Amino acid sequence: EKLHFFTERLAAWFAGNHRPLPWKGEQDPYRIWLSEIILQQTRVEQGMPYFERFCREFPTVADLAAAPEDAIMKAWEGLGYYSRARNLHAAAKYVAYERGGVFPATYEGIRQLKGVGPYTAAAIASFAYGLPYAVVDGNVYRVLSRFGGIAEPIDSAGGKKTFAQLAQRALEVAPLPPGSYNQAIMDFGATHCKPKAPFCTDCPLSRECSAFQKGKVGLLPVKEKK
Ligand code: ADE
Repeated sequence: EKLHFFTERLAAWFAGNHRPLPWKGEQDPYRIWLSEIILQQTRVEQGMPYFERFCREFPTVADLAAAPEDAIMKAWEGLGYYSRARNLHAAAKYVAYERGGVFPATYEGIRQLKGVGPYTAAAIASFAYGLPYAVVDGNVYRVLSRFGGIAEPIDSAGGKKTFAQLAQRALEVAPLPPGSYNQAIMDFGATHCKPKAPFCTDCPLSRECSAFQKGKVGLLPVKEKK
């Protein structure tokens, strides 16, 4: 019941709070994949111009596959974590030359791409194909730990399992398609239920938010290792 409240209020919030991001409404799995790899260790504001540049210079997975490695590394310059760019190129060659240019359309298939972990696979599967896989990133840990009052460490094996299951149940009861639900909880965490100074006094979830009701917002989420 609390989860229904959560997903309904989140959906209403999302309807009135659209963050204009260049990959929103994007249907092309290649571009969605590109945006998610860029955003793995990069802030949205920093990643945006790189996403635009990659789309311009390498409009299709075939273009990226055929590009010289140094052209890709040059376009990536300044983003850091350069293994992301090397994995991007390797995965593009795999899709272009071993899959006939067809991007994988299942979670397991997407997960096999170099550089794609569970989070990124869920994001691509839901955004590109509407598949019901919940994303679990830092935003999701924060929102769910606070709303549910869950003090289990997010970096423990048990905590990861707890939050993954809760996130999946929320997605399954949400009155939104999976991709929209995933985007909604990420946007809500990034802009409303922020790490510091979240907007609790103006929050559509505060009535049922355990952390807010108990005055523990600043204590959640819990990390085992600092
Ligand atoms: N971070 C990772 N993926 C994101 C997305 N689709 N929207 C906003 N922030 C993100």
